[in-house]
Amino acid sequence: MPFRPHIKDLKPYVAQPPVERLREELGLERIFKLASNEGAFGPLPAARDAILADPDGLRRYPDSSAPELREAIAAKFGLEAGNVVLGNGADELIRLAGMAVLENGDNGVFPWPSFPTYVAACASTGAEARPVPLTADWTVDLDALKEAIFPSTRIVYIANPNNPTGLLAPRGDLRAFVEGLPGHVLCVLDEAYAEYAEGDDQPEGPQLVREGAPNVVVLRTFSKVYGLAGLRIGYALASPEAASAIDRMRGIFNVNSVAQAAAFASLDGDDEIARRVAHVKGARTQIFKWLALAGHKPLASRANFVFAEAAGGSGTEVEQRLLSLGVAVRALDGFGAPSAFRVTCGSDTENQYFAAALDRLANGA
Ligand SMILES: Cc1ncc(COP(=O)(O)O)c(C=O)c1O
Repeated sequence: MPFRPHIKDLKPYVAQPPVERLREELGLERIFKLASNEGAFGPLPAARDAILADPDGLRRYPDSSAPELREAIAAKFGLEAGNVVLGNGADELIRLAGMAVLENGDNGVFPWPSFPTYVAACASTGAEARPVPLTADWTVDLDALKEAIFPSTRIVYIANPNNPTGLLAPRGDLRAFVEGLPGHVLCVLDEAYAEYAEGDDQPEGPQLVREGAPNVVVLRTFSKVYGLAGLRIGYALASPEAASAIDRMRGIFNVNSVAQAAAFASLDGDDEIARRVAHVKGARTQIFKWLALAGHKPLASRANFVFAEAAGGSGTEVEQRLLSLGVAVRALDGFGAPSAFRVTCGSDTENQYFAAALDRLANGA
């Protein structure tokens, strides 16, 4: 079969198998999963109610344009419903943004190591994926990224905070980069972890959209701090023109009705969200400390996970050894960092269990 040449080179995204399957395969009593950066606490109470509220309604298709939800999201950011596109997770929106601008022979650029969907989004349109290496201290190299932009470049993806490093791009530098982009380049600021970031460099993607930037697309998700990863819902904020182009790429019913209802109900939960964010901040400080004490080289994360270069130089080895002790973390070869691994901030119990497992490893387990 003449499948597209780019597909041949594309590595499939290998997600961690469900915990229950892993547990059975390994014959372990239990596994704590700190591998996929989901929120530790699940849906907010109002979202739980919304999920259970109308099972009979499931015989109907969802509301394809979801005006109330889009309006509610827009209001949160001082924007209009026409600035908001819903996606089956931010993951789908990464691809839809690519589909809206990329053609065969074009290319997309992004820092690397980063989120593997950027590679897939380029390849799935027949465009070339052009990863631009991070600096030696794992930060985004905006100068190199700028130099990688050619007349054939149509899109640049920047995860901020970056996954897997958890680091932020300096705010002023990123703004200058975005404002200096040529008009033919769409800039996707993937802010899936924005809620966990604080301080002067907090992501300001929505502000750029409010200012009317025509070429900026900001991605956010309900998968992390809102605890709805299994329902698959995220959103893009963009100029009406860019939002409309991306919206025309999506499947008609890409976001199901339960996800829409749960997302809508989640938007009033600011106090609980603040508590969750505070918990993550405490947890990532502890995890950083434990990792450093065990001889690994962690980075100071601004997200809900911590990246570390493995003491022995292999993230996979740490992943396998921790798994044998009942903790699933993420080796990062698929993200472009084979020397490293990533630990998601979990509940207190999960984090304590991780600390104990790390200790056992350091003592030769
Ligand atoms: C940087 C980044 N963007 C997007 C996503 C996808 O999120 P979603 O669950 O909304 O598809 C993730 C998920 O881990 C991510 O790390």
